[in-house]
Amino acid sequence: MKFDLSAWPEVGLRQVRSAFRAVPLKAYPELAGYSRAEIHEGLAGQGGLFLASDMARLLTLKAGVRVLDLGCGEGTTSIFLARHFGARVFAVDEDLPDSLPLRASRAGVGGLVTPVRADARKLPFPPGSFDAVFSMNAFFYFGTDDLYPPYLLRFLKDRGELVIGSPCYREEIGADAPEEFLLEFPACLAVHSPDWWRRHFAKTGEVEVLHAELHPRGAEFWEDRVRFLLEDRPPEGMKPGMRNMVRAIIRMLNRDEDGFVSHFMLHARKGKPIKLQPNHG
Ligand SMILES: C[S@@+](CC[C@H](N)C(=O)[O-])C[C@H]1O[C@@H](n2cnc3c(N)ncnc32)[C@H](O)[C@@H]1O
Repeated sequence: MKFDLSAWPEVGLRQVRSAFRAVPLKAYPELAGYSRAEIHEGLAGQGGLFLASDMARLLTLKAGVRVLDLGCGEGTTSIFLARHFGARVFAVDEDLPDSLPLRASRAGVGGLVTPVRADARKLPFPPGSFDAVFSMNAFFYFGTDDLYPPYLLRFLKDRGELVIGSPCYREEIGADAPEEFLLEFPACLAVHSPDWWRRHFAKTGEVEVLHAELHPRGAEFWEDRVRFLLEDRPPEGMKPGMRNMVRAIIRMLNRDEDGFVSHFMLHARKGKPIKLQPNHG
């Protein structure tokens, strides 16, 4: 259903609720007890802790594993991974807020979350430091250079895992892409299709790409985010940057007919793909 923007910035909640789907909390038993606000609070992109949970499900996480949360923003996913799995999380962002240690200790995981303010392209860690890399709604800002995957893989242990969850286009866009799809231009030029991401990592020859697909809720995550933001406060109460972003997302969703703007997840394991030997016995 299209959302009528003619009265913008006035919006009625009834119109918001009928135009945009909300991800059902019951689909995520691991998030029982979280409110919708807690699913989205402190997260800058779509999917909230729903997407973080789906990404975590792909990984083999257990107490003590060392995780690099790359482009962690406020570190909400770092706290989540530490709280739910007992992971030792290194929360890396070039623009990390000072508040993370306090938030982590209030969540009972102050000893498990290490804030690191750093550029993802100049990581201050020795090779083989991590069991897993986790990167949500951030990787396209710094990770599309052909040389970046081999650089990043250095920091993983052998057989270590990587998971990315992020916005995507179903297929690569060209110069004729509808203007409404070019959200956050020019950053959107680094938004790619799941197949592009698969090749980006597979061509290193250093990983086995286990999953690189559209997320089944990929389009819904956009709607869920817009719905949360508009239920949280009317556009007049938003900062101008956020208000413009919400409007731009609505225009994009209005233009999209069939889930072309979506989200994907990629899961890869460091090490050469294991080739099965033919059995001549
Ligand atoms: C859309 S936000 C997502 C943040 C967080 N992962 C989340 O889900 O809320 C993208 C983040 O990537 C970070 N970022 C962009 N380029 C970066 C770089 N070169 N090195 C480190 N962080 C970077 C930004 O500072 C920002 O916090």
